[in-house]
Amino acid sequence: MATPVTISVGSQVWIEDQEEAWIDGEVLSIDGDKVRVQTSNGKEVVSMSSSTFAKDMEIPSAGVEDMTKLSYLHEPGVLQNLATRFGLNEIYTYTGNILIAINPFQRLPHLYDQSMMEQYKGADFGELSPHVFAVADAAYRAMMNEGKSNSVLVSGESGAGKTETTKMLMRYLAYMGGGKSDVEGGRTVEQQVLESNPVLEAFGNAKTVRNNNSSRFGKFVQIQFDNKGKISGAAVKTYLLERSRVCQITSPERSYHAFYFLCAGPDEDIKRYKLGHPSEFHYLNQSTCFQVDRMDDAQEYLDTKRAMDVVGMTEEEQEAIFRVVAAILHLGNVDFAKGKETDSSIIKDEKARFHLETTAELLM
Ligand SMILES: Nc1ncnc2c1ncn2[C@@H]1O[C@H](COP(=O)(O)OP(=O)(O)O)[C@@H](O)[C@H]1O
Ligand SMILES: [Mg+2]
Repeated sequence: MATPVTISVGSQVWIEDQEEAWIDGEVLSIDGDKVRVQTSNGKEVVSMSSSTFAKDMEIPSAGVEDMTKLSYLHEPGVLQNLATRFGLNEIYTYTGNILIAINPFQRLPHLYDQSMMEQYKGADFGELSPHVFAVADAAYRAMMNEGKSNSVLVSGESGAGKTETTKMLMRYLAYMGGGKSDVEGGRTVEQQVLESNPVLEAFGNAKTVRNNNSSRFGKFVQIQFDNKGKISGAAVKTYLLERSRVCQITSPERSYHAFYFLCAGPDEDIKRYKLGHPSEFHYLNQSTCFQVDRMDDAQEYLDTKRAMDVVGMTEEEQEAIFRVVAAILHLGNVDFAKGKETDSSIIKDEKARFHLETTAELLM
């Protein structure tokens, strides 16, 4: 932690700002614990000294890769450094051995290609630019050197980039631990590890206000390595799926991807499961959103099935799963009307009967 610095007239400081969060300026005068500041956007503001922070004037124009190198480790200093780096397309910054990632909201393929993984392989932590591969590499090497399990914790608010970051971590570990010769049904273990993601996302992710591909469950992914550092297996534990989303959604959100993927499936599947456009189903048409930007549901359906193949689900198992998915949609369309006797109800009409019968057929 930086030692407290005294602020005097003429000091460059950060003060809180309603709009900008923090704004910089120069101290004009000090009266007890009140500091009068001329801000860089041309205002004169009085700030409490307890929320007035010294501005580091020596910070390099491109910021610093590791925030422990900042002269002042306070909120405005940290945010300014992150903002400066983000402006230069540097989404990763260290604070010691913690990696901070800022969601770029755009594809940055050069950051994650094969040559990047090669560069980070075995490089000392901190030697290269901050990167999620460096964290994965450090975790992997510590595991090998100490012969002990290791974990990487990924945290952040919704839409911050946890799921994408976790996938990159898994890709790097699969790259390091890949190449095991005994393959299962023609698929390597590391392929199976990576392909578990599209399967989990199809059934556990949905479009929310904050994230078009929001994971509605928590997960603990375990990748097992043998004593040579090769992947020998994997296990995924999921927690607390948001079940209410199946029956209830509001605009502009969507239910779980799998429903829309299946409705966009090939004609033969649509016929087999007696489906139609998502707008025909109560569980999906409570929201006016059926489409997600840059997400092709028809293609995703095929990709999900391919991923299910890779992780080792048979055609029969896959069909059983999609029968349930379709049955849920039909069940949502079963409407009731008041029956003749008190407190009794009957199937509302022919349409409701069709959906009830279809549900029964599918679940048989
Ligand atoms: N490193 C990244 N590169 C490119 N896009 C990203 C990256 N991280 C996140 N995104 C984008 O942001 C969206 C939300 O990220 P996600 O990982 O799903 O957030 P979280 O899991 O924290 O809710 C992703 O669907 C993706 O479009
Ligand atoms: Mg997520």
